[in-house]
Amino acid sequence: MKITYDEKTRIFRLDCAGMTYAMGVVDEEGFLGHLWFGAQAGEDDLTYLSRTAEFPHVPSVNGRDRGSFLDSFFQEFPGAGVGDYRPCALQIEDENGQAACQLFYDSYRILKGKSILSGLPSTHGGEDEALTLEITMKDPVHGVRVLLFYTIFEGLRAVVRSARVINDGDKPVDVTRLLSCSVDMEDTGYRMLTLDGSWSRERRKELLPLGRGTRSVQSRRGITSHQMHPFVGLLSEHAGQNEGEVYGFQLVYSGCFYAGVDKDQNNALRVQLGILPEEFRERLQPGEELQSPEVLMAYSEEGLGGMTRTFHDLLRGHLMRSPWLHRERPVLINNWEATFFDFDLEKLLGIARRAKKEGVEMLVMDDGWFGKRDDDNSSLGDWTVNEKKLPGGVKRLSEELAAIGMKLGIWFEPEMISPDSDLYRAHPDWALSVDGRTPCRMRNQYVLDLTRKEIRDAVFDQITAVLDSADIAYVKWDMNRPLSDVGSAVKGKSAGSILYHYCLGMYELQERLITRYPELLLENCSGGGARFDAGMLFYSPQIWTSDDTDAIERLKIQEGTAMLYPLSAMGAHVSVSPSQAVGRFVPMTTRGHVALAGTFGYELDINRMPAQDAALIPSQIALYHRYGELIREGDYYRISSWQDNHLNDSYIVVNRDKTQALLFWVQVLGEPNTRSKKIRIPGLDPDKNYRIRIADPAVREDDQSGNFLSHREIEHMSGFLDKTLAGRTLAGAGLLMPKLSGDFRSVLLELLSE
Ligand code: DGJ
Repeated sequence: MKITYDEKTRIFRLDCAGMTYAMGVVDEEGFLGHLWFGAQAGEDDLTYLSRTAEFPHVPSVNGRDRGSFLDSFFQEFPGAGVGDYRPCALQIEDENGQAACQLFYDSYRILKGKSILSGLPSTHGGEDEALTLEITMKDPVHGVRVLLFYTIFEGLRAVVRSARVINDGDKPVDVTRLLSCSVDMEDTGYRMLTLDGSWSRERRKELLPLGRGTRSVQSRRGITSHQMHPFVGLLSEHAGQNEGEVYGFQLVYSGCFYAGVDKDQNNALRVQLGILPEEFRERLQPGEELQSPEVLMAYSEEGLGGMTRTFHDLLRGHLMRSPWLHRERPVLINNWEATFFDFDLEKLLGIARRAKKEGVEMLVMDDGWFGKRDDDNSSLGDWTVNEKKLPGGVKRLSEELAAIGMKLGIWFEPEMISPDSDLYRAHPDWALSVDGRTPCRMRNQYVLDLTRKEIRDAVFDQITAVLDSADIAYVKWDMNRPLSDVGSAVKGKSAGSILYHYCLGMYELQERLITRYPELLLENCSGGGARFDAGMLFYSPQIWTSDDTDAIERLKIQEGTAMLYPLSAMGAHVSVSPSQAVGRFVPMTTRGHVALAGTFGYELDINRMPAQDAALIPSQIALYHRYGELIREGDYYRISSWQDNHLNDSYIVVNRDKTQALLFWVQVLGEPNTRSKKIRIPGLDPDKNYRIRIADPAVREDDQSGNFLSHREIEHMSGFLDKTLAGRTLAGAGLLMPKLSGDFRSVLLELLSE
């Protein structure tokens, strides 16, 4: 790992783990050009990549065609309005509304390590783990300085970028666009991958060719959103899951975002991510500065899987901070899908007692325990316990649970206010709203103006009063509607500034919470997975992945989510069959296997589920305990995707020294008249021999539930079960997965090296 600057060629290079990122300063004026991001380059002079030897040449040689130069030069951080007609990275307006902006190279520093940003979620790294390059650029007319940050981390093919604008002038300026990165690159036939969806259908992959113009995904909802994700992947022509070049870019931010790729007249791509410019404006007074969120940029020569594992390592190693990150999380039971709002102490304890017997360790009391909330029409903001439902309050519940041997978790929705709440009656101006307009209700609720400190303080005080009143091990922080009516009772702020400061305010609240309760296990949530992003993982080690808990739907949602985020971050629960989301019947065993690929728990009424399903809970929990560490810390390799092949879904998690692996296989649909399915197993050590066994050994003949393997199905695997195969055999010749009887069946195999 090294960062260098060559005084003679004026080239910056970041080299790490077989990857090179290079930039060069050209011409007398000091344009900073992008030279290369990708496979490791030799120790060569890369100046030729700037193309300054060909028309249109640099302005000092060909000032006549300055515009042609600016419009085709690979710019590292393009300004606006002076001749580059491609999308810019920075736009600044002066007092007169003049918005041109152009940056020239000034100086640089190379720093050991990487410190976290103030007020924003970000990566971190010790002096022996990371190197940071800081390049100072200047716009002499605006009197603005821009620091470009680049960090590389030992062993990772990734660059983390951000930018900071500092107003060195003597007049205020408005920053109307500050992206986190802009990367110009040649298009050699890339396809663009995004993760799109809706409520209950989050992060489904979409792969499309790139055409001329800009293709982008974005959120203007004030939160990351169910609909689009702050991620762009670029897959080279022949790239697949395990082969070919892939670039991945993801933003560490949880508000309105932009992620897009522009293809210009020269077939050059400009990849940009950052805060959504249309919904952003920030005034900088003289001396003030503005920091962009970070963007994580991964480069892979091992297909999408390589990108995934780089992101997992980067997030686990250098972004997520919770003490729970490497700990086994308690197996929980959440009462939401069991009771919705209709619960009381006895019902909760009834669930807890039975759950405890089966091996569950924590009860999470979801929405409905406070104010007079018996449905979703009231009480958000009134975080005082409803004693009718919970006599003795949360304290008594926690004590009763402790007596049973269970921990307590509790749900909050701190960013919201119900029109029907004491809080709203006392402070109607605390909701975001625009003068003269009735704010738009969604789920009959408004959004609190978290840009205001007194409001954040009031919310914090209410939450801490509850948390201090009882022994509470876990908090689920929910957020059930996007922002609208973006106006504050404190005047003088643009909507763009409010949206940005709302996000910072929410981050500040979460930081305060985990600072005050360092041992608290925090799970973020947003109407399912509308705010599942790297920004939130800075605060909580896990996030609720989706409100759709149907195991088969979850395969798609978890595939898209796990493409970027570690399995240990995905909230995944076993729920009832037929599922409340789609009415699908799925065997309990399959539901358990699918939920294992995340933070494991239950979301059902354990007292009312079929006995044959309940009987399987102890063995499911045993599986979680046995394989929890492997799943949490291991390397994840996708083998097949139901979303692609419409038949089966498969992935494997391999531990770091490649001595143990767990293979998940779900036969989504049965097919007539077919043979076993060949799968190649990536990630193993080719030179090790692996003994293969069924991890979940339930075998039963004549079972109609789909929970057990039949002797015939076992027989189909007899060629490899309890035998050893070399890693190289498994990678090449592969395994033959048996044809199972029925739909939605699954098999879990353990591979242990001998
Ligand atoms: C949305 C969450 O995703 C659910 O799990 C549940 O907590 C509800 N909100 C409660 O209102």
